Amino acid sequence: MDEARRLTTPAVRDAWYAIDVSEALVAPSSWTVGRARRAPASYRLFGVPLVAWRTPDGVVRVLTDRCPHRNVPLSKGRIEGDTVRCFYHGWVFDGGGVCQAIPGLEGDPDRLPRRAQAWTVVEQQGMIWVWGIPGEDPGPARRPPRFHEADDPAYLTVRTRLQAPGTLHQVLENALDVPHTAFLHGGLFRNDDARRPVTCTITRWADRAECRFEGERPPTGLAARLLGVGDGALYHADRFLMPSITEVEYRLGEGSHLLLRGACTPVDDDHTDVIACVSIRSPLPRAMVRTVVEPIARRIFAQDAVVLTAQKACIDETGRPRFASTEIDVLGGPILRLLRDAAEGREPDPSDLPSTRTVTMWL
Ligand code: FES
Ligand SMILES: [Fe+2]
Repeated sequence: MDEARRLTTPAVRDAWYAIDVSEALVAPSSWTVGRARRAPASYRLFGVPLVAWRTPDGVVRVLTDRCPHRNVPLSKGRIEGDTVRCFYHGWVFDGGGVCQAIPGLEGDPDRLPRRAQAWTVVEQQGMIWVWGIPGEDPGPARRPPRFHEADDPAYLTVRTRLQAPGTLHQVLENALDVPHTAFLHGGLFRNDDARRPVTCTITRWADRAECRFEGERPPTGLAARLLGVGDGALYHADRFLMPSITEVEYRLGEGSHLLLRGACTPVDDDHTDVIACVSIRSPLPRAMVRTVVEPIARRIFAQDAVVLTAQKACIDETGRPRFASTEIDVLGGPILRLLRDAAEGREPDPSDLPSTRTVTMWL
């Protein structure tokens, strides 16, 4: 398995994908006993199983979760110092995939076919990122995306890993889909009454798409109250940053700022992980914001998971997706176009970009 498998849905391989939050991977310490604390973690990216562990020095290592000897999952083995040991015949691999020990064999255990496949890992801002192509040497020149506010002490930042049913495109669109918020999440963001016209300006560049909302009244739901009370102009923009980041930004006057980011990772054709990173600056006490933000975020995500599961089941039973879109489905189309063009190696036409259109949505 030299290459990650191809997904049938469009996705870009040469990019960083977040697989988890940092706190999910704890280095085994000397006082921990029992196998559980020494068990490596397992993930999937592009349908390929991954094994991950943190070394005693705090470095995260990721290999393809397949022992080269007899192809059993290394994640069923155990962490030993910097290395992982297979549970079948006990071969030991370091973070570069080099075989360090073969019980019972005399001489140097390292031979090329005995190496496990290593993936490039970068940990930053409390998130673990993996480069989408394994074994690239010397590795990618660019770093994973940074979320500016996540470093700013004026913001409360909360991160979590969510596992969503659905393709990468379905999950990306869902995260940036405004029209469903009044229905599916009625009362949490906004309600389905007293709507008024909002001007939506949708712009697509070669590497991102954005929708700016103007004329929107401050959202009235429970989640919106996290922004706090106060006067001031409301700024709202939703963004897709190629190939995997969703960003919802609300600003209310000078005091309140909310950034809901999701690093969406294609697990396989039918599943997408979202490493959510929420940064909030609010006039409300930080402890209060912290106490309410997680349950509300989980409630919203649970509702989205229900609809994504139902959408997938419906599409599976009735044939390939055939979506009847309107002009207020603002970002689903641009996201799909950007992903398709990149996955199929099509360069965007510079004379066509940035492309902008404006629509009215009653919100
Ligand atoms: S299968 Fe892993 S050591 Fe034999
Ligand atoms: Fe939603």
